[in-house]
Amino acid sequence: MNKFTSVHDVPNIKQFVTDALALKANPYANQDLGKNKTLGLVFMNPSLRTRLSTQKAALNLGMNVMVMNLDKEGWALETQDGVVMNGSTVEHIREAAAVMGEYCDILGLRSFPKLNNREEDYSEDFFNKFVKYCGIPVISLESATRHPLQSFADILTIHETWKPIPNPSQGEGSRRPKVVLAWAPHIKALPQAVPNSFAEWMCKAQVEGMIDFTIAQPNGYELSEDFTAGAQITHNLDEALVGADYIYVKNWSSYAEYGKVLTYPDGWMMNNEKLKLTNNAKVMHCLPVRRDLELSSEILDGPNSLVIHQAGNRLWAAQAVIKAILEDLK
Ligand code: CP
Repeated sequence: MNKFTSVHDVPNIKQFVTDALALKANPYANQDLGKNKTLGLVFMNPSLRTRLSTQKAALNLGMNVMVMNLDKEGWALETQDGVVMNGSTVEHIREAAAVMGEYCDILGLRSFPKLNNREEDYSEDFFNKFVKYCGIPVISLESATRHPLQSFADILTIHETWKPIPNPSQGEGSRRPKVVLAWAPHIKALPQAVPNSFAEWMCKAQVEGMIDFTIAQPNGYELSEDFTAGAQITHNLDEALVGADYIYVKNWSSYAEYGKVLTYPDGWMMNNEKLKLTNNAKVMHCLPVRRDLELSSEILDGPNSLVIHQAGNRLWAAQAVIKAILEDLK
């Protein structure tokens, strides 16, 4: 593997999940692989889970790790070519990324969308320029449109916790879990990166026969079709919840009216009453979560919540990705 920026960099999800579970069972088996290798983690935005889990994953593989909050600690970056830099920007991304590539063997980058201009955000201009100019393998720590390390941990969590009751009428194979991505309320305009990425991974997992996938969101909150091909899509949350085995709760701002928080009908916050409609579903959220706005405290503190397990699996997902890249380093 020479980069990890989306599910398209993963040939086979099932194999990748198997690799991550092997690392979870034996975290320090590959310490020689990362010896004398350096991972640089570059953040343009805040992070708790991504930052700590990716650092820990690299340390488990014997790597050195450097972390930089580039937005606060670096020079103000210019990203456009052909501009006379006589304004507030101090360093061009061409030099900044290339220099970081000199110090590291692998780089991770987090760069959120600004949510002002859809075309600009969805072009991933900053992220793609960083990849181009650093000249070494890059891991997405969340870009404007995707969060693949999160999605990998999510499918890993579903695979690990799915214990179907055998159904003889369906033949020898056990049934696939029904996974529902459910929009939830929020007071701020949040990116579509997590739900885009989750949808993209789940659609591929559905093709690989691992799950059945439904997305439920209010009118106006439909995700880009580039990420949702093959999913069942509905505006009726209660209908989507019937028979659900996993509910992935997440807010996102509108894609159609880009970056806006639109009005929506009551009844979109997941709580124990809604849970009764499901197949005693496990509830997931990428975190951070706003309690009793996006997701009820009763669920977060109850037996159906997987959020801590899911966050724990960020480590094994990151370790599997870094290991795959280290194995292919020239
Ligand atoms: N879920 C997630 O990426 O968490 P952080 O933003 O804290 O890294």
